[in-house]
Amino acid sequence: MTTKIFCSFCQRPKTAVRRLFRGTHAYICDECVKLCNELLEDEKKSLYRPNFVLPKPQEIKSFLDQYIIGQERAKKVISVAVYNHYKRTMIADDDIELQKSNILLIGPTGTGKTLLAETLSRLLHVPFSISDATPLTEAGYVGEDVENILLRLIQAANYDVKAAEIGIVYLDEVDKIARKGDSPSITRDVSGEGVQQALLKILEGTIAHCPPHGGRKHPEQEYIPINTKKILFILGGTFAGIEDIIMRRLKKTKIGFLTDSEINDLSYDEIIARVEPEDLIKYGMIPEFVGRVPVIAPFHKLSKPAMIEILTKPKNALLKQYAKYFEMEGVKLEFTDDAIEEIVNQAMKYDTGARALRSIVENYMLDIMFNLPNLSGIEKCIITRNVITENASPEYVRSAKRRAQ
Ligand SMILES: Nc1ncnc2c1ncn2[C@@H]1O[C@H](COP(=O)(O)OP(=O)(O)O)[C@@H](O)[C@H]1O
Ligand SMILES: [Mg+2]
Repeated sequence: MTTKIFCSFCQRPKTAVRRLFRGTHAYICDECVKLCNELLEDEKKSLYRPNFVLPKPQEIKSFLDQYIIGQERAKKVISVAVYNHYKRTMIADDDIELQKSNILLIGPTGTGKTLLAETLSRLLHVPFSISDATPLTEAGYVGEDVENILLRLIQAANYDVKAAEIGIVYLDEVDKIARKGDSPSITRDVSGEGVQQALLKILEGTIAHCPPHGGRKHPEQEYIPINTKKILFILGGTFAGIEDIIMRRLKKTKIGFLTDSEINDLSYDEIIARVEPEDLIKYGMIPEFVGRVPVIAPFHKLSKPAMIEILTKPKNALLKQYAKYFEMEGVKLEFTDDAIEEIVNQAMKYDTGARALRSIVENYMLDIMFNLPNLSGIEKCIITRNVITENASPEYVRSAKRRAQ
């Protein structure tokens, strides 16, 4: 007679389950394994960790420093804002209402605004989503509803709405929803204003209703309700041409006691550092919207030394990435200083910040990467200035063994 075998956890007999796994001193059935798996999954899903160690502003900033060159002020502003966001959502008791301070990142294209948001998302232990304001339209028009932004956050939280409610949203390209034209006129575009109105509610804090599968709202759909009161919004935008608005205001108000010609001589960085909410309103943002974004972090243009650093210094710097590919072929890759400088000179002509660097480097490296796996006995590949200026071949150093042959 065989002794009866039970699952040691639920006591069900072998005959009542599909599988029974045997351990040294115990059995477990497939049902219990499944249950344990679900518990583990749930744990993984819950981003809301009350015992999570709060990173201090300096720690947040040093993490950002590893990836983002320059933009010291913006990095500081963000670090403090994110730290406060954690405190507000995780530590503060409900008696004292801590107001959230949504943030606007403003500055030229290709200077690290989106990169900063992405880098932050890797550090954080709250749900984080990135959306683009360009396709947003007022309800009833062709395009996306603003609730889709929240849906993306809910998705980032694996549909844990409670976790999403303390998350962070990065909304890029907000300048695209500015009203066109400053003065009211028949031809002005009102849809931007409508989108701002719709966003305003979410920024302020409301119970929004998200269509669970995105797209447009449908009367017969069931919505996911989400309270946006504690969601931190980081907005980003280039606001091309806002420097003229700022300059005009500086000249008119004479604040800072600068003469008109001194104002004309200010650099873009000096001007953008002086941006005020009223400039954003002049640009086409509605006052209530601007009022909901009390923190403005200006980004400056990237200088030549900064561009050189971007190519070489960050943890995932472009040239380091290429070196990694070469290493896999057993070849050491080097760029001479004047080659790097030349790449930067070319990139700066485009006026798209660091964005041009990748396409320029890729362009020169294509043929070299194409040929490399066919060359044998190469120890080192040196990219000299000639490679960049004249499309010359790089210098190849053959391995000693090869040379001796
Ligand atoms: N300050 C910076 N530090 C390091 N890399 C940068 C910086 N600014 C831009 N880059 C590089 O340029 C790319 C484009 O920058 P991005 O953040 O998308 O610019 P934008 O300010 O227009 O959002 C980034 O992915 C990154 O490789
Ligand atoms: Mg961007």
